[in-house]
Amino acid sequence: MEIALTVRDLEPEDLTDLDWSGGPEHLNAIAEVLQRCWSGEVASIVITLPNGRLVAHGAVDFSKSAGYGELWMLSVHETFQSLGVGSMLIRALEDRVRSRGVGRARLGVEHDNPRARRLYRRLGYRDCGTELDGWPVAGGDTYVTVCTVMEHRLGAGV
Ligand SMILES: CC(C)(COP(=O)(O)OP(=O)(O)OC[C@H]1O[C@@H](n2cnc3c(N)ncnc32)[C@H](O)[C@@H]1OP(=O)(O)O)[C@@H](O)C(=O)NCCC(=O)NCCS
Repeated sequence: MEIALTVRDLEPEDLTDLDWSGGPEHLNAIAEVLQRCWSGEVASIVITLPNGRLVAHGAVDFSKSAGYGELWMLSVHETFQSLGVGSMLIRALEDRVRSRGVGRARLGVEHDNPRARRLYRRLGYRDCGTELDGWPVAGGDTYVTVCTVMEHRLGAGV
């Protein structure tokens, strides 16, 4: 069965349909992303079903370097994983990077997420270092983790 999916920019009203992607701290982070989208330093997209429900969300940060866009917050609704939606999300974010005239996409993947890493390798990403990353979690704590940094040199429109 084929379902027609739509890629579009994240909108404020989407926040009420992204609770599957994480807890309140994550939703707060997405709200901050929306504000950064308005200033242009970030682009954020969602993928929707024909009925408008959201099945994927991701963002690209252009503020870290003029040389690359950093993909982050990549998330596909659990029910729709392993069907190619994550690949579609990454390709769409890479299109946003290209459309800014930027030639490289980067992302960080946690050391204990081999499935995501395999997907990124399949899409052309290669290891280029490690970094510490962290984000707020319940109770006011910050979760800190080690990530492998992966990079993809983007072609003209592949
Ligand atoms: C990581 C994530 C974004 C990937 O999204 P996804 O929609 O599952 O990704 P895809 O479906 O494009 O690819 C994943 C797998 O499905 C397979 N697949 C893709 N299309 C397929 C299809 N039509 N039929 C069968 N399998 C398919 C891929 O080959 C891949 O297989 P692998 O796991 O053996 O490498 C998603 O699983 C997710 O949100 N995970 C939880 C949060 C997370 O880990 N985020 C990433 C942080 S770095």
